[in-house]
Amino acid sequence: MCGIIGYVGKKEKKKILLDGLQELEYRGYDSAGIAIIENQRLKHFKAIGKLENLREKTKKYESSNFGIAIGHTRWATHGKPTELNAHPHLGKYSFVVHNGIIENYQEIKAELQNKGITFLSQTDSETIVHLFESDYEKNRDSFQAFTNTINRLDGAYATLLITEVEEETIFFAKNGSPMLIGFSGEDIYFASSDTPIIRKATEVYYLEDGEYGYSKDGNVTLFNQEGEKSFIKKPLTTNKASAQKDSFRFFMEKEIYEQGRVMGETMMGRVLDNSINFDELEKSLFENITNIKICACGTSYHSALTGAYLLERIAKIPCQVEIASEFRYKEPLLQASTLFITISQSGETADTLEALKMAKRAGLKSLSICNVDNSSIVRESDNAILTRAGIEKGVASTKAFATQTMVLWMFTLYVAQLKKSITQEQLQTEINAMIHTPKALLVTDKLHAKLHRLSKRYLHGHGFFFIGRDIFFPLALEGALKLKEISYLHAEGYPAGEMKHGPIALADSELFTIALMPSSMQYEKIKSNVEELSARDATILAISPKPFELADDCIRTKYSSHPMLEFFEMMVATQLLALEISIRLGNDVDMPRNLAKSVTVE
Ligand code: M6R
Repeated sequence: MCGIIGYVGKKEKKKILLDGLQELEYRGYDSAGIAIIENQRLKHFKAIGKLENLREKTKKYESSNFGIAIGHTRWATHGKPTELNAHPHLGKYSFVVHNGIIENYQEIKAELQNKGITFLSQTDSETIVHLFESDYEKNRDSFQAFTNTINRLDGAYATLLITEVEEETIFFAKNGSPMLIGFSGEDIYFASSDTPIIRKATEVYYLEDGEYGYSKDGNVTLFNQEGEKSFIKKPLTTNKASAQKDSFRFFMEKEIYEQGRVMGETMMGRVLDNSINFDELEKSLFENITNIKICACGTSYHSALTGAYLLERIAKIPCQVEIASEFRYKEPLLQASTLFITISQSGETADTLEALKMAKRAGLKSLSICNVDNSSIVRESDNAILTRAGIEKGVASTKAFATQTMVLWMFTLYVAQLKKSITQEQLQTEINAMIHTPKALLVTDKLHAKLHRLSKRYLHGHGFFFIGRDIFFPLALEGALKLKEISYLHAEGYPAGEMKHGPIALADSELFTIALMPSSMQYEKIKSNVEELSARDATILAISPKPFELADDCIRTKYSSHPMLEFFEMMVATQLLALEISIRLGNDVDMPRNLAKSVTVE
């Protein structure tokens, strides 16, 4: 989703901005822009589409004296992806970049328009710059004007503002959308996540909601509702983990191949010879806890659903799963005996973060399962388990899902140990299976070649149904989501036993059914469900370790002894299927249309 970068200092600013935006590119965007003030000269450039377009437009421009600079990648929410709607937004002498959504922008816009102010864009963000200038023109105090401006805003924002009337200062504010400040000597950086400033800044401060201020002369002055406040910088990691595609065609492809290796990281120090250990969890976490609620969005929601099956079956603890955007407004009845778990790859998903804040306000203990340390969700949670998948650049999540699911499996065993709801023998069986997971995730040349060949038969038709039972139902949901995200073909995930209650009406030879048929879990049941579809002429692609004579196509998996090993092996097959279909259709696998990697608006 939208990305922000800002800089105050003497270095070449265009490069800092464009390289910073490049690091944020994987999050998804449809236009980009930069604005720089140097030697009393304000310059700005905007371009729609890829950053190359902006690089092309700025190629003759350089800025190597002291100055201030802001940049932005925009993922359209209010108004189409056009140059006018791209950030930075211009007033008469100031520029603003903004992430988030200003909920009361129409009211503010109407008020400003009544005063004769002209808006150039359809965005909510443009109101910030006009509000600022209209206040400044009354009081001639730029910081007061900025403070008054942000006090008028409802909704979520991370914003930077520069103005010719204060040409050595960047004003900043954060509420609900992430923003951090990086420090390196006299150089000050701003960014919506730490990736663009790693190895540039040495220290960092992650702004809290409600904080705002300005940066000038190599210093940052910070305020919140109580007034000026001090803050403590933290060392910034130098580990960029900046993903390169290596020899792969797409990041998503590379990330599918990486899953076996990263799973080793996820398990390290946690899966011991005969127990599961989470050093990061408070020993008292489970005191007075009788049940669990997991809240997440998208792919993370699918791993949550998988985890709920495991937690109830193995750890014998009631577990409910909620879609974060639904949970926020359903006026849920929350009890202090519930452990509230959020799952998020990015740790910045607005709906999940707000759900977590709600649960905390209601007094619940919280735990997040997340891939990004220091993200908003991790910082907001009482406890966090990092999934250690490494940076995931493909918008369609793969290794994040795999590692979230592994963490939930480990966590289940950890809870089962605490609650003594598992025998040592059962625990040992689970651990033995767990240790085999990296092998189940291996992508062999044979498997990839088979999916490449098969994919050409699945490019048309009127839709896909991914079906499975038990934990293979959330895997079916995830398989369908992967396919629709990157192929733009219609796909649904369905519980196999539910097809006969309606969707079977769609069955004909143009309905593609991807049947997840594990041998270690309800094989006979799912087999009958698939037979019902086959009898109605649906085209069946069976993914199973067993032969299935009614299948039109078959991916024969290797593992058949443990449901989780079957789960992970089948997951890889569905990911590769989506990848190969998308490549054949000529789509941008890593940055599918309309999608963003990190969804920081509700
Ligand atoms: O960063 P999060 O895990 O909180 O993101 C949640 C969803 O936006 C995300 O999983 C989305 O569905 C992915 N594009 C799936 O591939």
